[in-house]
Amino acid sequence: MSIVFSPASIGTMKLKNRFVRSATWENLATDTGHMTEKLYAVYEQLAQGDVGLIVTGYANIVAEEKPNAGMMGMYDDSFIPEYKKLTDLVQRHGAKIVMQLAYGGTKTTYNLGERVIFAPSAVAERSTQTLGKEMTTAEIDYIVNAFAQASLRAKLAGFDGVEIHAAHTYLINQFLSPYYNQRKDQYGGSLDNRLRFLVEIYQAIRKQVGAEHPILVKLTASEFFTGGLTFNETRQICKKLKALGVDAIIISGNNHGNANTLIGQSFDGHTIQQEGYFREYGAVISNDIDIPVITVGGLSDIHAIEDLAATTNIKFFALSRPLLAEPQLIKRWAQGNNNQVDCERCSKCRTKRGNFCVVFKPRKPSSGLRTRIGQR
Ligand SMILES: Cc1cc2nc3c(=O)[nH]c(=O)nc-3n(C[C@H](O)[C@H](O)[C@H](O)COP(=O)(O)O)c2cc1C
Repeated sequence: MSIVFSPASIGTMKLKNRFVRSATWENLATDTGHMTEKLYAVYEQLAQGDVGLIVTGYANIVAEEKPNAGMMGMYDDSFIPEYKKLTDLVQRHGAKIVMQLAYGGTKTTYNLGERVIFAPSAVAERSTQTLGKEMTTAEIDYIVNAFAQASLRAKLAGFDGVEIHAAHTYLINQFLSPYYNQRKDQYGGSLDNRLRFLVEIYQAIRKQVGAEHPILVKLTASEFFTGGLTFNETRQICKKLKALGVDAIIISGNNHGNANTLIGQSFDGHTIQQEGYFREYGAVISNDIDIPVITVGGLSDIHAIEDLAATTNIKFFALSRPLLAEPQLIKRWAQGNNNQVDCERCSKCRTKRGNFCVVFKPRKPSSGLRTRIGQR
């Protein structure tokens, strides 16, 4: 049997295969972030489709701030019973589920003017031009504590672990970045100082959830622009996080929406790839540290994934858009149906009615047929 369908572990978490549903905001929660029947159905389908580890869409940790509509929430205890139902539903099918926790920050144009948006410094986000409020140390402590409390709730709700979203220009990523972080205090300047916010979040979470509970961190390989976080710095960050006890690291890119347009370009000595955009970066880090490294971005060919598993130390393979088009994809591959994936990476999957594949109808589990929406 191919290595990608064999069991593996992240810390104490035993997984039935090497496939991860990368965190995917579904835009299907209520206005206050609570679960809906549609959301339960999305997760049950993924679990039935043999995904080894499902990472939830990003969940907001404080009630007053969220970067997008329809996000899941984890900002108070009222969520615990409904997430218990979710974790039971998923685990019943032999899958594991981790909650991704995030503070958004200025990479948003959602409900601007209605809330204060925190940032390390008053530097506008490059794509949205949204300007945030430079955080005081009391506000930093408040967010650190909010991550820890949300993580404890996730553990109480039966999640198998938590993932800290430190990528994609959200708040933690901005602290790491020499471009967004212009602070003159102990949270800015040297790499150790820029890393301090993430380290404090990690340590506060660890204190709440205990030594055995898996904590994953999603990082950006590089910011891919001059003056931004470099891959060399990310390598150092990974080594420090490993030393602190982080259980796994997901190596992503700064702007997944633009990854397609960067294919073939080289940054920091490595190239963005067509199949597995950030695989070269993940492969280097998988040689630097001896905790599991997960690669994400543009994976769609089972043969290429198997090749990566055989030729690098990357241990897990995360997919987002292909699983929106085909929640049963991993099961299909496991059954030997290696036909091309439906996902065309068109990234039209974000809609006001929820995030789903607008091109293909999900295949029926028993059917090998692809059905384009609008075609019968
Ligand atoms: C609709 C949509 C929602 C996403 N939501 C999140 C999210 O909540 N958290 C996160 O870290 N990444 C999120 N991503 C990024 C994915 O996890 C992933 O890194 C990216 O799509 C590249 O993987 P893919 O090529 O398999 O789609 C989202 C992507 C899409 C398309």
